Amino acid sequence: MRIASLSDFLLQRIDRGREANGARKAVNRQIYQVIREAILDQSLPAGLQLPSSRFLAQELKMSRNTVTYAYDQLLAEGFLESRVGAGTFIANTEPDQIVTAAAAAAPAGPLQGGELSLSTRGQQLVELAGVSKTQWGAFMPGVPDVTQFPNKIWGRLQNKYWRRSRSELLTYSGGEGYLPLREAIADYLRVARSVNCDASQILITTGIHQSLDLVARMLSDHGDHAWVEDPCYWGTRSVLRSVGVRTVAIPVDGEGLQLRPEDLRHPPRIIVVTPSHQYPLGMVMSLSRRRALLEYAAANNSWIVEDDYDSEFRYGSRPIASLQGLDVHERVLYLGTFSKTLFPGLRVGYMVVPPVLAESFSTGLSELYRCGHSYTQAILTDFMTEGHFASHIRRMRVVYAERLRLLHEAITFHFDDRIIITGGEAGLHLALGLPDACDDIAICEAARQQGIIVRPLSKYYSDAASARRGLMLGYGCVPDEQIRPAFDILAGVIKAHWPGAHTQAERVK
Ligand SMILES: Cc1ncc(COP(=O)(O)O)c(C=O)c1O
Repeated sequence: MRIASLSDFLLQRIDRGREANGARKAVNRQIYQVIREAILDQSLPAGLQLPSSRFLAQELKMSRNTVTYAYDQLLAEGFLESRVGAGTFIANTEPDQIVTAAAAAAPAGPLQGGELSLSTRGQQLVELAGVSKTQWGAFMPGVPDVTQFPNKIWGRLQNKYWRRSRSELLTYSGGEGYLPLREAIADYLRVARSVNCDASQILITTGIHQSLDLVARMLSDHGDHAWVEDPCYWGTRSVLRSVGVRTVAIPVDGEGLQLRPEDLRHPPRIIVVTPSHQYPLGMVMSLSRRRALLEYAAANNSWIVEDDYDSEFRYGSRPIASLQGLDVHERVLYLGTFSKTLFPGLRVGYMVVPPVLAESFSTGLSELYRCGHSYTQAILTDFMTEGHFASHIRRMRVVYAERLRLLHEAITFHFDDRIIITGGEAGLHLALGLPDACDDIAICEAARQQGIIVRPLSKYYSDAASARRGLMLGYGCVPDEQIRPAFDILAGVIKAHWPGAHTQAERVK
C-alpha cells in the first residue's frame, strides 16, 4: 500500500467510524482505533511502513500531537514497532504457531446459543441456586428492617475516621481482621452467646457464607462429605457443594438433628447445624442432642459448624446459649453475622475457631480473599464499644416482637389453627405448614405476581418428593401497618391453591 493511499484509507475509515459513533471519540482515539482495527483485520499487513507522524498529520490535516499520541499508544500495545533509523512499521502480531496448531487440532469456535462452558460444579451452583432476586418487602424472609438502622450515629463515627487518614486502615489487612473489633466481638459473644473465646480465636469475614466457604476449604478435601440438616439453609448446601464437598441430608425433628444408625457409621468431615434456631423450621436443638453431637464429633475427628445467624432475636425468653459454649473438645467452629443485627449490606461476619486453627485460618483467609474493610471494622468497633450495638438489638427486639404478634394475629384470623406455625419464637421469619396437597412453589409464584414474596418450604429439603409443604414468611422488614393487608393478599392466594379451604375471613363474612 502506497503512503498516499494509506492516508485515504485512514480518512475513509475515520469517516465511517464517525458515522457509526457520531463525533464522540477524541480525534487521537479515532486514529488509534482505525489503525488498530485495520491491523487486526489484516487490512494493514505486517511489515508495512507507516509514514512519519509529521507527514500523516499533514495528509490528514490534523495536529502532529494527535498522530504522535496514536502511534505511541500502538507502539506500547505492540501493534507497531519502530526500527532505529528506518521508521515505524506494522508489527507481526500473528499468534505463536505452536499455540495455533494446537487450537486447530481441537477447534473450539464461539459458544453456540444457550451453551455454557461452566464446570460441573458451576453448573450445579446455578441450577440449585436459592438466592432471591428481591431482598426487600413483605414477606421476604431473613431481612431485618434496615430503615431503622441508626445512620446518624454510624455517619458520625465514619466521619471521625475519615477525618484523620490512617494508613493501616487503608491498606490490606491481616486475614484475621481488625484487632479492636475482634476484642469487642469476643466480649460480646462471651456475655450474650456464652461462647468460650478470646480475640485470638476470632476472624472477621464478609459473613457466614464466606466463613463457611473458608471452613470447607481449610478442613475438607474434594469428595469428603458433610452432614447438613434436612431441611436446611440453601446457602449452606451451595457453598459446600461448590468446593466439592458432598452433602448428606440428616432429617431434623423437634429436638434438632435426628441421627440414624446408618449415619453414625459414616462419620463426616464437617457437620453444619443451626442449634439455637433451626433454619428454616425454628426449633432449638435439645441439650441431650447437643451433648451427643459434641461427643460424636470428638470421637470421630469431625468438625461441627455452628451457624448462629439470628439468635439475638428471641422473644419469649432469653437467647439460647451457644453449642460452642458446651464444647470441651474444641471441635466447634462458631459462625456469626451482623447481617441480621445491623444490616446485610454491611457484609461483616465473624467466626470463632478453636485455638489450634486460628493461625492457619487467618493465613487461609488472606491467601484466598486478600482482606481489607479495616475502616468499616474500625467504625463497627466504636459502634459496639460505645453501646450502640446492644441498644439497637434491644430496640429491634421490641419492633420485631410486635411484628411477629401482628403476623400471628393475621394468620389466626384467616386460618384458625388449620395452619401450623413453626419457628415463631425467635429470629425474623416463621414457617407456615401446608397440607401435602398444596403446591407451595405455585403459591409463591402466584403471590409474587401480586407483589408478595414468600419462599416455598419444600425447596429447603434435599428431596422434593418427600419434602413438607409450607411457606417461609419474613416479618423483619415489613412495617406494622403493612402486615395485615399483605397477609390478606397472601391468604387469598393460599386459599386458591388449597383444595377445599375456606379462610376464617370468608366465614366471618
Ligand atoms: C441460616 C443462615 N445462615 C447464614 C445466612 C447468611 O449470613 P451472611 O449474610 O452472614 O452471609 C443466612 C441468611 O439469611 C441464614 O439464614
